[in-house]
Amino acid sequence: MSGTSADGIDAALVEITEEAHHPRVTLLHFEHRSYPPGIRERILRLPAHADALREVCHLNVLLGELFAQAALDLLKAARFSPAEAVLVGSHGQTICHLPTPVAEGDLRVRSTLQIGEPSVIAERTGLTTVADFRPRDMAAGGEGAPLTPYPHYLLFRHAERCRAVVNLGGISNLTLLPPGASVAEVLAFDAGPGNVLIDGVVRRLSGGTLEYDADGAWAASGKVNQTLLQRLLSSPFFQRPPPRSAGQEEFGPRMVEEILSEAGPEGIPPADLVTTVSTLTVEGIASSLEVYVFPRQAVDEIVLCGGGVRNRWLRSAMEARLEPRPVLTTDDLGFPTQAVEATAFAVLAYLTFTGQAGNLPSATGARQAVPLGKIIPGKRFSRLQS
Ligand SMILES: Nc1ncnc2c1ncn2[C@@H]1O[C@H](COP(=O)(O)OP(=O)(O)O)[C@@H](O)[C@H]1O
Ligand SMILES: [Mg+2]
Repeated sequence: MSGTSADGIDAALVEITEEAHHPRVTLLHFEHRSYPPGIRERILRLPAHADALREVCHLNVLLGELFAQAALDLLKAARFSPAEAVLVGSHGQTICHLPTPVAEGDLRVRSTLQIGEPSVIAERTGLTTVADFRPRDMAAGGEGAPLTPYPHYLLFRHAERCRAVVNLGGISNLTLLPPGASVAEVLAFDAGPGNVLIDGVVRRLSGGTLEYDADGAWAASGKVNQTLLQRLLSSPFFQRPPPRSAGQEEFGPRMVEEILSEAGPEGIPPADLVTTVSTLTVEGIASSLEVYVFPRQAVDEIVLCGGGVRNRWLRSAMEARLEPRPVLTTDDLGFPTQAVEATAFAVLAYLTFTGQAGNLPSATGARQAVPLGKIIPGKRFSRLQS
């Protein structure tokens, strides 16, 4: 998969076995590779592209090739042959996410678009490929996101402790796992920006030389501009109760430009801008917990995953803000932080292939649980089905 950050491809080799109540999920191997030079910029600059339709058509297949190569390289690195694998699950690259219904006559249309052509993946790998998970949830009246809560439940639920899993991806999303919970008791929603605004502001302030605030060093050198922080916190997304989801549309290039244009006349120093947007990530998550979670459920530990875990400033700020609750990472629970989301889409592919639903209506707002995605047959498709 590649998330909203469009930083590159996460590939997880996962073994899934059917158990009495829920599948058991074991990570065998994980690899992250950055996109080749220029691809991230092309994805992020799509909305401003002069011939966007043609560029989307082209990138769809190009990304399919890159995802296929990532899958094949992963198998090779793990010393598996493609014939030993059963399925590829491919989230694709989100290029547009519009979960708020738009009226079209009598219709109300929600839409989302992930690219990275799965036909290319199936053809190159020979493996049956499940892709495009979000539209089915939307067709069932959901936000199409977050889709990782059930996989989070499989990986991180605990009999006695209440855990809030927080994925610090481009967008941050939160999954509440009450102790000994059934699936129906899981609560999940997008909390706000994760790394996406930090990356965007850092890229602009560095004239494109930096892709992210490595270790949070820049944020550590500045201080919060309260006026800007409060203005950002008043943005409509934070006023929306769950179910809710976000993308680059809410917290993306447009907001980055607003922040930079406001900073100009006020003369906010660059370091303070980075600290302020990094604090917005922390406040978005903390206030989501305070408003929607803590009043109904005591949380024993916050468990972080995703690329933002590598931002040391962000982690310390989360710890300070959520004190006295312990802030752990999935690494502490024995599961690599960077591999969680890719593993989740392997699980969703498995569920679809075996005819099971993958979304949680409590998380996405869908009318019912549905199997997600499209199945592109591989070479052995019919034999495996029988
Ligand atoms: N060493 C690091 N220091 C700070 N931030 C980092 C570091 N490594 C990765 N990141 C952040 O993690 C992001 C990628 O996180 P990821 O979980 O892959 O998000 P997404 O799911 O949106 O792709 C990068 O864009 C960057 O912001
Ligand atoms: Mg990523």
